[in-house]
Amino acid sequence: MTTALELRQITKRFGATEILRGVELTVRQGERHALIGPNGAGKSTLFDIIAGRTLPSSGHVMLNGTDVTGLPAHRLGRKGLARSFQTSSVFTGLSVWDNIRCAVLGSHASWPARWFGSNVIDRETQRVIEAIGLTERSSEPASNLGYAALRALDLGLALASDASTLLLDEPTAGMNRLEAAQALSLIRETTKGKTLLIVEHDMEAVFALADRISVLVQGRVIATGTPDEIAADPGVRSAYLGDEP
Ligand SMILES: Nc1ncnc2c1ncn2[C@@H]1O[C@H](COP(=O)(O)OP(=O)(O)O)[C@@H](O)[C@H]1O
Ligand SMILES: [Mg+2]
Repeated sequence: MTTALELRQITKRFGATEILRGVELTVRQGERHALIGPNGAGKSTLFDIIAGRTLPSSGHVMLNGTDVTGLPAHRLGRKGLARSFQTSSVFTGLSVWDNIRCAVLGSHASWPARWFGSNVIDRETQRVIEAIGLTERSSEPASNLGYAALRALDLGLALASDASTLLLDEPTAGMNRLEAAQALSLIRETTKGKTLLIVEHDMEAVFALADRISVLVQGRVIATGTPDEIAADPGVRSAYLGDEP
């Protein structure tokens, strides 16, 4: 079993407060791994560290066996890691097409310049827009899109990067149940063959989507396992799942 992402004893302090206290996490290549935990547990902070937006106080982030701790986001992108943020990174003034095309171009900066004028980029753009179900709206400005479509476009930006490992932080936040279900099936379809680490609040969705789940409570991973194992874990139930309505 090959490891895509490995976190070794990650800690993070803000002033005197220790938010992450020695996080250990292994995401296998090609698996869908969900990170769950109560509000304030440190999930977004951990994503910031993995994605190179902030440094850990100590510990290491390994990507495909290489230590990438502290590398900036654009260098991680070249090593095959993409992140979709809790807040949107879409350019609202640009069309759907131009948003995706920019992301495709950005991720293929190393391609020979002669390809840029050709339709290689256009075909790739088309493929991503089809995958996220926005073909009919590709000439519209992103500002026209409703919330769910905007999040789909956000997912498209991550897919356009062609990264093999994706970090998705609460991709269904702010959606109603129907939109959330559609978004998750879109994620399931479009990320086949990729490695996924996803933070998601909707437990039903998590248990349906994830191959494995890790539970972060008070800055530590208290359990990792299959959905069945996590559902049956007494420590998880008392620390977290028992609090669910
Ligand atoms: N830049 C920061 N400075 C100080 N405290 C922070 C900062 N970012 C996050 N925190 C704190 O860290 C804790 C974990 O936050 P976060 O990672 O957003 O949790 P989660 O995503 O699990 O809800 C919270 O108590 C939050 O207030
Ligand atoms: Mg968060």
